Amino acid sequence: MTNAIADTRPELAVATQTATDVVLDVRGLVTEVQTPRGSARLVDNVSLSVSAGRTLAVVGESGSGKTMTFLSALGIAPPAVRVTAGQALLAGQDLLASTPEQLRTLRGTAVSMVFQDPLTALNPVFTVGSQISEVLRAHLPIGPREARERAVALLERVHIPSPARRLDDYPHQFSGGMRQRVLIAMAIALGPRVLIADEPTTALDVTVQAQILELLTQLREESGMALVLITHDLGLVARHADEVAVFYAGRIVERAAVDPLFTEPRHPYTTSLFRSIPRLDETPGTKLTPISGQPPNLTNLPRGCAFAARCDMRADDCSVRRPELVPAPDPDHLSACLYWQRLSGDGGLP
Ligand SMILES: Nc1ncnc2c1ncn2[C@@H]1O[C@H](COP(=O)(O)OP(=O)(O)OP(=O)(O)O)[C@@H](O)[C@H]1O
Ligand code: SF4
Ligand SMILES: [Mg+2]
Repeated sequence: MTNAIADTRPELAVATQTATDVVLDVRGLVTEVQTPRGSARLVDNVSLSVSAGRTLAVVGESGSGKTMTFLSALGIAPPAVRVTAGQALLAGQDLLASTPEQLRTLRGTAVSMVFQDPLTALNPVFTVGSQISEVLRAHLPIGPREARERAVALLERVHIPSPARRLDDYPHQFSGGMRQRVLIAMAIALGPRVLIADEPTTALDVTVQAQILELLTQLREESGMALVLITHDLGLVARHADEVAVFYAGRIVERAAVDPLFTEPRHPYTTSLFRSIPRLDETPGTKLTPISGQPPNLTNLPRGCAFAARCDMRADDCSVRRPELVPAPDPDHLSACLYWQRLSGDGGLP
């Protein structure tokens, strides 16, 4: 499927020929909103990238800007919200400098997003088959018969049993997990280079969650697409991610490959997150410690470190100096903590 439509996207063919395999490269993204209490930066200088065939996990508390980052990058942020700086390079093309027309073409063909609620994302009055066909026919010069054949093949790819028969069913005739599979089928229909899955399993029970993640990973491996997995579930991160970006108050506070992030976190917020969220990979009964306090108000951020009020390691200058995301010390392991060395095991002070 991916190969079949690759020729229709000459602008993306370049990506496969270049040495780099980074497919989505977000640089210095800033997204702001005006509120009655002043301007708020919902996304503050976020830079991240994901490569072909790799999974980037995006974690952080509710409201930390995970979803907004990707809505902004794809040009689908809510109308009140303005992207005021940055680039979102998709196979070299800046989405933020693209026309609405170009963006519409790229969404679906080059990048797709799957959300957490499969019931509201599907239209209840149309059959699943007609909804998949619509996605295909909006972008490809194919007739109804071919669209139907491709829709069957797509349902088969996401492991929906008896796909030819299920095509004429309506969304309510599918279970939650099956509906999520249908949405994934629609998201991969045009062979995107990047699939962004925003809490794709939150509404599902644990067994089905695991199956959906297995499916996403399998599709990623088969097609070589890049996967962005936005999740609260650190167990899923440990099992499925290659790299992790940890968000706090609209910024990335730590970014690293999955192993060093789990074994040697270099930001106190990451360590707090590990202590506060149940992990499927941990011994049952492990004691959880909620992170004390609340995330800061984005319209009234403290001057220094946004995590200072909740940080056990806070020092005097933390409320004055704003920590930048810097190598800690490995260039592939970034931390936005002034005192990351204290977490590095050698207890060193800067
Ligand atoms: N339409 C909007 N107008 C103004 N602010 C918004 C709008 N949508 C979201 N926000 C704010 O943007 C910030 C980031 O929200 P976002 O949805 O990206 O968080 P998130 O990390 O995805 O959280 P969750 O884990 O709950 O999905 C939050 O402070 C939220 O209140
Ligand atoms: S900069 Fe200071 S307050 Fe912020 S996370 Fe590091 S030690 Fe804590
Ligand atoms: Mg979200």
